[in-house]
Amino acid sequence: MAEKRKRAIVTGAASGIGKAAARRMIEEGLDVVVADINEVAVERTVSELSSNTGQALPCVLDVSDAKDCVRLGVEFGSIDILVANAGIQTSGTVVDTDDDTWDSVLAVNLKGVANCCRAVLPGMSQRKSGAIVVVSSNNAVCGSAGMAAYDASKAALLALVRSVAIEHGANGVRINAVCPGTTITDYHIDRFAKQGVNEEQLYEMTADTGLLNRAASPAEIANAIWFLASDEASYVTGANLVVDGGFSLVGGR
Ligand code: NAI
Repeated sequence: MAEKRKRAIVTGAASGIGKAAARRMIEEGLDVVVADINEVAVERTVSELSSNTGQALPCVLDVSDAKDCVRLGVEFGSIDILVANAGIQTSGTVVDTDDDTWDSVLAVNLKGVANCCRAVLPGMSQRKSGAIVVVSSNNAVCGSAGMAAYDASKAALLALVRSVAIEHGANGVRINAVCPGTTITDYHIDRFAKQGVNEEQLYEMTADTGLLNRAASPAEIANAIWFLASDEASYVTGANLVVDGGFSLVGGR
């Protein structure tokens, strides 16, 4: 009898890093729940990614809504892997970031990750098996100006990862963070397209990023996510893998 395929949930899977992670997992033979707030993009992504090696399953949800996230633990059967990737970016210094911005960034970037963990942890603990990868940022480990709320939300995620690692290690659940540096995703491509800058020009503009003189592609971040999610990382938990081409090593460039 054919072995049952493993199942993963990827939040924010309809774009950028999340989509690349979902694609990689389907290539590796998993079924992947494409969980995202953008309904049209979920539909598009599901038809784009489904293949012979694995299925893409649609799930339109808002990670900041705890009740909505409960569905993740009940509607999709046993979940082996959670990639908590959905996030929003905002700019603003500590002084000029208003209440609404603080609330929305913390609700999506921090509480949203906790909501998804809460949904899958009981099942993983019961089965004594599971892997969670949280997508933080290199801004969590090195300072920047003008992204106060975002940076705080991403740094708080590293503490959340430690808490879950300590609370659930004995239950066979691993959790780790990936901290990407600048990655040319749809977010950046769309933002710069409005200013008349195309994707190729965007890579050229970011050619002084980090020690490798370039920004990352979503697939390069997905490689790190897959490593931490897979059995290759069977003895790695509570860790924080910085994937930023050396940017944080020298405090930028
Ligand atoms: P993106 O904007 O291309 O994709 C984010 C996805 O999350 C979108 O499909 C969006 O619809 C979804 N989303 C947003 N709010 C949601 C919510 N409340 N519930 C469910 N889904 C929601 O972004 P990108 O660049 O792929 O970023 C992915 C993650 O990586 C984010 O957490 C981001 O902070 C992080 N990151 C990105 C970097 C970059 O340079 N692109 C660098 C460091 C970290």
